[in-house]
Amino acid sequence: MTEIHSETGAETNTGPQRTMPFLTRLVAHNPGLCTFATLGWVVFHLWPLVPGLLGKALFDVIEGRAPAGLTIWTLIGLTVAVGLARCVAIIGATVAWAGWYQRARGLIQYNLLRRVFSRPGAQAVPGTMGESISTVRDDSDGIAQMGGWGFDLFSGVVFVVGGVGILLQGTQPMTLVHHRPLYVRGGEPEREAVPNAEPLQRLEVRSLSYTFPGTDRGIQDVSLDIRPGTITVITGEVGSGKTTLLRAMLGLYEGATGEIWWNGERVDDPAEFLVPPLVAYTLQTPRLLSGTLRENVLLGLPDDGRAERAVRQGVLDVDLGQIPGGLDAQVGVRGVRLSGGQVQRVAAARMFARSAPLMVMDDLSSALDVETERELWRGVFSTSATCIVVSHRPAVLERADQVVLMQQGRVISTST
Ligand SMILES: Nc1ncnc2c1ncn2[C@@H]1O[C@H](COP(=O)(O)OP(=O)(O)O)[C@@H](O)[C@H]1O
Ligand SMILES: [Mg+2]
Repeated sequence: MTEIHSETGAETNTGPQRTMPFLTRLVAHNPGLCTFATLGWVVFHLWPLVPGLLGKALFDVIEGRAPAGLTIWTLIGLTVAVGLARCVAIIGATVAWAGWYQRARGLIQYNLLRRVFSRPGAQAVPGTMGESISTVRDDSDGIAQMGGWGFDLFSGVVFVVGGVGILLQGTQPMTLVHHRPLYVRGGEPEREAVPNAEPLQRLEVRSLSYTFPGTDRGIQDVSLDIRPGTITVITGEVGSGKTTLLRAMLGLYEGATGEIWWNGERVDDPAEFLVPPLVAYTLQTPRLLSGTLRENVLLGLPDDGRAERAVRQGVLDVDLGQIPGGLDAQVGVRGVRLSGGQVQRVAAARMFARSAPLMVMDDLSSALDVETERELWRGVFSTSATCIVVSHRPAVLERADQVVLMQQGRVISTST
C-alpha cells in the first residue's frame, strides 16, 4: 500500500501548501476508480440538460424542422437509451465512489496507525485517548469524503458550461441580458404619446417580406391597402403565413423588409408606432398572467368600469356569472383555470378595454362555439375600429370589406 504521511495531532500543519499535494496524492492512489466515479457523477449531473434537448428535438420533429433521420420513434429510442445510460451511470458511480472512499479512508487510517506504532509509546499519541480515537476514525472519514466533493465540483462546472452553451445556441447573447427599467417606488412614468398618431385615413403595407432564419419559410412581397373603419380578413391554409404577416406588419420581426405607411407617411419603426393605444393586437394563442381576470383585462389601465364593459363586449359576462368571484377570480398560473375559449374572450376583452382605433386579431374565435363566436364578432364589428382579422369563418368572411387569400407566404388574391 502506498504510504501517505498525514501529519496529525501535535504536528498538524495544514494550509493550501500541504492540503493540495496531500489530496492529489490521495486521488492518485487509485486514479482508475477516481476517474470512473468522476465520469459517472458528471453524467448524473448533466442529466437535467438532456430532457430540455429532447424536448427541443420533439418540437423540431412536430414542426418538421428536425434533421433527416430524427423521428418520433428515434426520439423514443433516444429517451429510453438515455434513461438506461443514466441508471448505469448512477450505479457505476456509486460503486466506484464507495470503493474509492473506503480505500482512501482505509489508507489514511493504516498510515496513521503505522506511524503511531512506529514511534516510542510516550510520543506516539499527543492528545488524550478520546482525541486520538476521533482523529483515526472521524478525521480520516472527513478527508476521504472531501474527495467526493471534487467530483461534484467538477460536474457542476461541466453542467454550467453545458447549460450556458445550450442557452446561447441560436440566441443573440444580448437578449439574455436585455435591460429594462424596473419601477420599484412610485408609479410607472407616463408613456410617451405615440408620435404622429393622427386618425387613420390609410394604412399601407408595401412589399413586406420576412423569412425565418435558417428556413425558406415566411412571407414574400405582401402588400395591403387598408381604409379606416373597414374589415380586412386574411385567410388561407394553416402555414400559409397569416400569423407571420400580422407580426411582420407590427414590426415584431427583426430583419423583415418592406414598408408601412400611415396616412401617406412612412413609419420608421412599426414596433414603436403600431402599439397601444393606437393598435390592439390579439395573438393566435393569447397569454394570460397569473392574477385576477380584472388584472388580465386591464393590464395596468385605470379601473374605471371599462373592465366590466370590455367583458360584456367580449361575451364573457355569462361565464363570469358562473365563476365564483367574477372579475376578481384568480385565473391560475397563466390562466390554467379557464377554458381555451374563455382565454380567447379574456384576450378579446383586453383588446376592447383599450378602445384602439386599429384592432388586429389572429384567429380570435378558433376555440368558440358558433353562437358565442357570432356574438363576439358582433361586439368586434359594432366598434368603429378598423379591423385586420385572420379567420376562415364564413360569418367573418361575409362581413369583410376585403379578403386577402394567402398561400405559401404570398398573397394570391385580394377580393373586395
Ligand atoms: N418561428 C418559426 N420558425 C420557423 N418557421 C416558422 C416559425 N413560425 C412559423 N414558421 C413557418 O412559417 C410558415 C408560416 O407560418 P404562420 O405564419 O404561422 O402560418 P399561419 O398563421 O398561416 O398558419 C409556416 O410554414 C411555418 O411552419
Ligand atoms: Mg397562424
